[in-house]
Amino acid sequence: MDINQNEQQSIIDLVDQHKDLPGALLPLLHAIQGEVGYVPDSAVAIIAGGLNLSRAEVHGVISFYHDFKTQPVGRNTVQICRAEACQSMGSRLLEAHAKETLGIDYHQTTADGNITLEPVYCLGNCACSPSVRVNDDIVARVDQDRFDELVANLGGSQ
Ligand code: FES
Repeated sequence: MDINQNEQQSIIDLVDQHKDLPGALLPLLHAIQGEVGYVPDSAVAIIAGGLNLSRAEVHGVISFYHDFKTQPVGRNTVQICRAEACQSMGSRLLEAHAKETLGIDYHQTTADGNITLEPVYCLGNCACSPSVRVNDDIVARVDQDRFDELVANLGGSQ
């Protein structure tokens, strides 16, 4: 996805602010994600040039740390727990339903920009599996119907 001029200028400014700091790459990536919402592919060349690194080095760090998004994030984030207790209570079926309903895979965002779907590994709510987090709220015992309700409450996304 192409970035707009403002986003590109923000990235250039942030690279300028960080380039002389020791160990600048991680704080810079966090700053870009904080400002733009994600680390666009087109930022890699700007970062590599500014920090005197290869593009492969920058790519390597972005892909190593799962916190960094490389696509725009939706207005809402829905996380489905994939850890053991939730899997034993049907979270695999739930995630298949979620992907089909939303028309996206994990780490993707619906075309209307409403929902980003992410996996998560235990929400500390194992006794009430399967668990889902919708933005800051953890929701217990989510079946397919409950999932559809949650999505509808977010304003739909299909
Ligand atoms: S395994 Fe899903 S909340 Fe713990």
